[in-house]
Amino acid sequence: MKKVRKNRVAGNWKMNLNLQEGLSLFSEISNMAKDELRGAQELIICAPLSHLYPLVQLAGKQSPVKIGAQNIHHEAAGAYTGEVSAAQVYSTGATHVIVGHSERRAYFQEDEFILFKKMALALQQGLQPIFCVGETLEQREFGDYLKVITKQLREILEHISPSDFERVILAYEPVWAIGTGLTASPEQAQEVHRHIREQVGSIFDYHLADQCSILYGGSCNKENAKDLFAQKDIDGGLIGGASLKSRDFIEIAKVFN
Ligand code: PGA
Repeated sequence: MKKVRKNRVAGNWKMNLNLQEGLSLFSEISNMAKDELRGAQELIICAPLSHLYPLVQLAGKQSPVKIGAQNIHHEAAGAYTGEVSAAQVYSTGATHVIVGHSERRAYFQEDEFILFKKMALALQQGLQPIFCVGETLEQREFGDYLKVITKQLREILEHISPSDFERVILAYEPVWAIGTGLTASPEQAQEVHRHIREQVGSIFDYHLADQCSILYGGSCNKENAKDLFAQKDIDGGLIGGASLKSRDFIEIAKVFN
């Protein structure tokens, strides 16, 4: 028995599925979770903002699956046409939000200042952030990926209180593995996960580091999840493509049964 930490499997639907498709996929996932999972894992679906409230209504109190957003704006409120705040997301009943995803860093120029504001607002408003870090292929090949990860973690976590950090979920998502079919090997992933846990230990303390869930993301699927999740410091997954198929997503979650 290696872990006392919570195991989590989070789906990131990205900008896929219309509302009806999203509701029906969620129902399938939720029913399969009720029938086939034994409660040893927390399931979260991070859906488009337009789907949050209907999904929360559909989930009701019966569904074992939690609902999260993929993004919030970095200001609390105001004249930001088209944006959605942490408080607005929270008011839908959603419980989680992804912050720092590499697609947001790359396509929406989200730097550490913006990411810190998002983390602070998520935590203030009662949302549980899933904070993502990960290196590009170039950074991996250059050999300084652990430095990159250290920087991404420290520039945010050093400004968060230990009690707030208790609600943070971390995710390691190598950019070169996202949506590419190239998965980090269990050993490659474990090396970085261990490093992340050590960084958390040195920023806060080793008790918090030991409690913190660190998810792996990047072409994680039902074939490779078992070997990845067997690693000592990997506590679950952040799943993109495979979360769009109920059977695949549940098979990944079943690794923890
Ligand atoms: P992927 O995406 O599983 O499709 O690689 C993971 C993610 O971006 O969170």
